[in-house]
Amino acid sequence: MILLDKHFVGKVLIFAFLYISAAACSGPGFTDPPLYLDPNASVDDRVEDLLARMTIEEKIGQMNQLDFSMINADDMGIINIDEEKVRNLVRNYHVGSFINGEAVPPEQWFAFVNTLTRVAMEESRLGIPIIYGIDHVHGASYMSETTVFPHAINLGATFDPRHSYNTGWVTALESADVGHHWNFAPTLDLGVNPIWPRLYETYGEDPHMASVMGRSYIEGYMGNEEIYPYRLASNAKHFIAYSDPVSGWDKTRVEIGMQQLYELHLPPFIAAMEAGLQTIMVNSSEVNGTPVHASYEFLTEMLRNQLGFEGVVLTDWDEVGKLVDFHRTAKNYKEATYMAVSAGIDMSMTPLHLNFFDSLLELYNEGRISEERINASVRRILRLKFQMGLFENPFPRNDRLDRIGSEESRQKALEAAQESIVLLKNNNSLLPLENPSRIILAGPSANSRKNLAGGWTLAWQGGDEDRYPEDMHTIYSALQQEFPDARIDFIEELPRTASPAFSRRLAQADVIIYAGGEEPYSEFIGNITDLNLPRVQKDEIALLSSGSTPLALVLVQGRPRIITETIEKADAFIHAGLPGFEGAEAIANVLSGVVNPSGRLPVSYPKFTGHYLNYNYKPSDLYFFHPDNQNHLEEPNPGTMLFTFGDGLSYTTFEYSDLELSEGELDKRGQITASVTVTNTGELAGKEPVLWYLTNITGKVSRPVKELKHFEKIHLEPGESATLSFIIEPEESLWYPDARGNRVYESGDFLVRAGGLSQRFTFSYR
Ligand code: BGC
Repeated sequence: MILLDKHFVGKVLIFAFLYISAAACSGPGFTDPPLYLDPNASVDDRVEDLLARMTIEEKIGQMNQLDFSMINADDMGIINIDEEKVRNLVRNYHVGSFINGEAVPPEQWFAFVNTLTRVAMEESRLGIPIIYGIDHVHGASYMSETTVFPHAINLGATFDPRHSYNTGWVTALESADVGHHWNFAPTLDLGVNPIWPRLYETYGEDPHMASVMGRSYIEGYMGNEEIYPYRLASNAKHFIAYSDPVSGWDKTRVEIGMQQLYELHLPPFIAAMEAGLQTIMVNSSEVNGTPVHASYEFLTEMLRNQLGFEGVVLTDWDEVGKLVDFHRTAKNYKEATYMAVSAGIDMSMTPLHLNFFDSLLELYNEGRISEERINASVRRILRLKFQMGLFENPFPRNDRLDRIGSEESRQKALEAAQESIVLLKNNNSLLPLENPSRIILAGPSANSRKNLAGGWTLAWQGGDEDRYPEDMHTIYSALQQEFPDARIDFIEELPRTASPAFSRRLAQADVIIYAGGEEPYSEFIGNITDLNLPRVQKDEIALLSSGSTPLALVLVQGRPRIITETIEKADAFIHAGLPGFEGAEAIANVLSGVVNPSGRLPVSYPKFTGHYLNYNYKPSDLYFFHPDNQNHLEEPNPGTMLFTFGDGLSYTTFEYSDLELSEGELDKRGQITASVTVTNTGELAGKEPVLWYLTNITGKVSRPVKELKHFEKIHLEPGESATLSFIIEPEESLWYPDARGNRVYESGDFLVRAGGLSQRFTFSYR
């Protein structure tokens, strides 16, 4: 409360100062008090008024984004501000935005941003508030005591956009008050390359899924009215085609046909724009030979002229600099700045030096970059700040921080985690485990918190194990809670070979659970040369499966590590993805049957290290693989994948019947309603994602064997049926883009599919 009062007094003083200094620069045409400080004036008028008062240095400063380490007091640990550093950067370089950090408690973040704001407002002649950006990519994960949701790949696995909405909503609730204004999420890259280390940040391999989930995230994040009087800015990244590098390694080159780029990679960004997206972060790799940060074609012709995006385009980390020493497409920083600004960036995440400021000023002074060009970017940045209400409410607040990490929010994260667990094998109905009296538990994820949360949690590469909340379960502690009457025998160090004593120990258990997978990583730090599950884990699984005790394999992993031989040794297999802070409980709930699994794979699970295929492959992709060379169009899994997108088992069974179409034909203005009945034919209640696919049987541009066009998750009691429908409309579903992004409609036959059933209809383009 005292802090609040203090900050109220500070605020009054700063606004008084602002009126005086803005009035001081008033001249002919300027109103007094300044129009830009009038909350009742239109945003456009406020922007123009402010822009007209700014010096070129002040404008360039707004285009500059620096890392928090530039203003952190070095000798005081992380997230402790050094006021003098802020003063220097704002007074002399007019810096408009700061980013990044690590997890500290909300009060500490509040104090940091509060001081930063106060000093920045004091030092900024016109009182332009800073905007603070951060990677809260699965909940406010760069702050302690918050709710940490599953990563996006798990949200994809839920097949329920409600969970993506909740993630956005809770992230906003837990970010807004401490002054984290701008979140670098959602990631709308497509998870098409399973070895790419950022796969887990995506919603999976399907463009429709990424569009639906991304849109829901933005709606939840930007639509949260509980954060009033604040508003937050979302950011879709990384524009465009970042996720499919030739080598599979992060930030390396992408070679892609433009038709594929339009068809697969663009739709999620378009959906996000329709949902009100305000900012975009650029892909840090090169696409078809040009780094996207230097691509006028992508950043201006496509993004601005073709898609009509009017928001802020932000570079990725030091990407202007990387045009010089990473891509080697610019001979020095100044040329790199020229290239990036000419291509269309608005703000440079510089972020550890002032080269961008200096270079852009020089380019302006030399007449190579015009003031109009700078104005165009600054306008967009100021518009964002006005739209967010930052001029009226620049300061964070600490009077309702108790909303952070609430039971209610954690319950939302738990539900998302529960619905994201994918059961892929369950021989002899090993799961759910019924009253086990002795469980042997082993594997590197069995007693680890950090593995459940993955990268971008507490810190860039995930925090050290002891930084995670004490009340966060590991799989080990969650199993103890879930099976209070069982003895859980956790073996931390497994022997290399099975001695007779060890074999006896295994034989005494009812079940062995091996929890393996991956340790946290982010970005290129997660590059690997082999997608196989590490040898040591395969050997441990082999050892544990040497007796007759059934084995359940649980993989906590950001990408599908190949287990083609190993899975034969397991009776059950759960792909848990990266389920977040509530993940261990969710896994235990599925093992016990408290939760009936309803997650489905959002990416196809590769069978081979040398050959990957997404579910929406082209007919010719497998023509020579199939013995009969014909029927793979109809097959749910063509045999080159271990499991396919959409796969996942339940403890109950669902039957699909009566797939019917309202019409057998339609033209461009028509529509067909497809309906199907789904019945829970088992003995347990359960949830089933109903996935609707279309197949365009013949196309001048070869068509995928199937494309997801609609999905809906339903809950059915035993014996209960539901009839679901999907409305097929040409404008929505019966076209594809050409290599320029124009819509192509072709007359011909289509298949609509749901749950293994299919029906044919004819489309006449008239
Ligand atoms: C990543 C972005 C991230 C940014 C800021 C970059 O290296 O590619 O996804 O938002 O850093 O942390």
